[in-house]
Amino acid sequence: MKRDFLNISDLSKDEVYQVIEYAIKLKEDKFMDKTLTGKSIGLIFMKQSTRTRVSFEVGVYQMGGQPLYISGITTQLSRNEDIKDTARVLSRYLDGIVIRTYSHSEVEELAKYGSIPVINALTDYLHPCQILADLQTIYERFGKIEGLKLAYIGDGNNMANTWLIAGGLMGLNVSIATPNGYEPNGKAVKEALELAKDSKANIEITNNPIEAVKDADIVYTDVWISMGQDNNEEKKKAFKDFQINEKLLKFANKNVIVMHCLPAHKGEEISEETFERFADVIFDEAENRLHSQKALMSLLFKNS
Ligand code: CP
Ligand code: NVA
Repeated sequence: MKRDFLNISDLSKDEVYQVIEYAIKLKEDKFMDKTLTGKSIGLIFMKQSTRTRVSFEVGVYQMGGQPLYISGITTQLSRNEDIKDTARVLSRYLDGIVIRTYSHSEVEELAKYGSIPVINALTDYLHPCQILADLQTIYERFGKIEGLKLAYIGDGNNMANTWLIAGGLMGLNVSIATPNGYEPNGKAVKEALELAKDSKANIEITNNPIEAVKDADIVYTDVWISMGQDNNEEKKKAFKDFQINEKLLKFANKNVIVMHCLPAHKGEEISEETFERFADVIFDEAENRLHSQKALMSLLFKNS
């Protein structure tokens, strides 16, 4: 049966570790896995991308496959062709689809009606490929994931939602601090709390960034204005106390690391000084997109 990756919880905790360990091997030998030989993977982008597009194109090539970049605007999807028809047509040509779009339900529909694996390359709700790379980066730095504390400071967006679910899945304690009115999606909170019953992760939502970063091993942030949102000055004002900077980091663990999914708006969600101090971690994270996505594709396409 085909397997999709729409949410980080589409993998079990053991599979996430399997993907991470394999990604670390692929980092040493980039051409060692040829699972995609003879396979064509369509990359549909309805939004902009630098990292996701390039890392998937290069990754599919390194695994022996053919990546096809498809700008959504050039397809009939942008003239309202049904997702379910698009899914059935593309399943006749392609062996897999990577899609970045707005509504998460569109990706779910594509996966439901397609007969080939579908990978979520970001929706307004979730960004699971980014979190896989981030978990790899955390594992490389700390040698473990379970029991650590990650504080996410900023907007309750797709990254915050995915961190909650990843925390619940992996037994990673996650504390999210957003301004009042910008909390993460209730559905993600519910899924995280359900998963946390097993993993014993501590899941916390607060409006106090100092409280969130207390005892944190990892402090994470993302842009205040996501793709598809208006560049709203009012919104930015609400976030002024939610910047990651040296002052805020004083409340975290001594050996804290700072992570950012990129792109960064320095001077907004993170100070230039803090960004540069943790640039090594942040660009490792970006590099790991390539390795972790290849490990993911190897798992999903092995038997398809
Ligand atoms: N982090 C991330 O997904 O980057 P892009 O938007 O450049 O793909
Ligand atoms: N929250 C951001 C993530 C970018 C990788 C966005 O959706 O634009």
